[in-house]
Amino acid sequence: MNAFAFPKGFLWGAATSAHQVEGNNVHSDWWAWEQAGRVKEASGLACDHHRRFAEDFDLAVSLGHNAHRLSVEWARIEPEEGRWDEAALAHYVEVIRALRQRHLEPIVSLHHFSSPQWLTAQGGWTHPKVVEAFARYCHRVAEALGDQVRYWVTINEPMVFLRLHYLEGLGPPGMKDMGQGLKAIQHMIRAHAAAFRLLHERRADAQVSIAAHLPVFAACKPWRPMDLWVTRLTDRIFNVALLSALTEGRWSVPGVANWTFPEARRSLDYLGVNFYGRQFLHWVRTVHGWPAANCDLGHHPLRVRERTSFGWDVHPPSFYRTLTRWSRLRLPILITENGAWMTDDARRWAFIHGHLQAVARAIRSGARVIGYCYWSLLDNFEWADGYTPRFGIVEVDYATQRRTVRDSGKRYAEVCRSNRLHLEER
Ligand code: FCB
Repeated sequence: MNAFAFPKGFLWGAATSAHQVEGNNVHSDWWAWEQAGRVKEASGLACDHHRRFAEDFDLAVSLGHNAHRLSVEWARIEPEEGRWDEAALAHYVEVIRALRQRHLEPIVSLHHFSSPQWLTAQGGWTHPKVVEAFARYCHRVAEALGDQVRYWVTINEPMVFLRLHYLEGLGPPGMKDMGQGLKAIQHMIRAHAAAFRLLHERRADAQVSIAAHLPVFAACKPWRPMDLWVTRLTDRIFNVALLSALTEGRWSVPGVANWTFPEARRSLDYLGVNFYGRQFLHWVRTVHGWPAANCDLGHHPLRVRERTSFGWDVHPPSFYRTLTRWSRLRLPILITENGAWMTDDARRWAFIHGHLQAVARAIRSGARVIGYCYWSLLDNFEWADGYTPRFGIVEVDYATQRRTVRDSGKRYAEVCRSNRLHLEER
């Protein structure tokens, strides 16, 4: 055993998103989707974080955190197109003040899967006007919070958002349309670039990124050429194309599209990384030149030794691989999400510990990692899966809204406080 010291000033915290914790997010498209019965459980009051944020931030402080990632809700701030709710903005000013008073560095996401109903009714992210509309909204938020917020995430997991909402129809607007999906991703890139620019106009030292979900894709049967092909293509579409659009201004996937986005060149100040595991791919068939792949999310019978209660593969060496691979972009890396639903909390701590060791090793190998946010501070509304999955280092009793710190939260707190980690020999 040896102790690894994280860099001075390392950001330690946990992440949440507005719709998943705040409650009564009635103007958002997710709310409408839930009310229409498209998911088994509606978000309702969630963790009532909209009222209890100060108490929740006290908990984060008691757990040794010095940073906190959260999102502001577009649907609250602009509940109808062009109508700005000043009280909603004032609320977020309060929230950021509460973080600052507790010496928690805010990391603020502007879009985390939910959009205003009015936008989604017009086609959501497939409508060209979304770029302007998002920029207007970001401008308002920057005006209100810009003094107090340095770290921004423009869009959370653009590729996951695209897949679930526009290709697989599992979230609003429920589209399953490749053509529309290709429109939406272009608009997201442009919207990000516009937000990047205006956040820097507001504050020169702003640190702006996306939170990129960057899994390691692996072939189910690496000896099967079609499995290898689909794995490489998925990596290209899901991981490589987006990051090259935001660094070099080019999105290119042979046989799919070649686009240039001059405005998006060098539009990342750091790289926000969300990491949940390895994903195994198995080629099924080709439809109009597109691979229909079966994404196992860890159900691979032979190669997965450990999985979360969701069935997701647990594989810290892949986290190391992701961090060292993308450190080649020569950007600081902020881990904006990493976490697990584990019914057994001891296994949650093993997950965190294993992944923190991967972070330490990546730093030793030269990755410039500046912070780590565990997903999530609180148990919360896990989208289509409702309240069953529990990712929190703090347990929430939804009947009473009582919070109870889990043991994993206390173990993580020791790392946050000491800025050190015991590295096990490999
Ligand atoms: C990520 C999302 C987050 C949460 C976790 C479990 O993909 O960003 O909102 O749902 O997964």
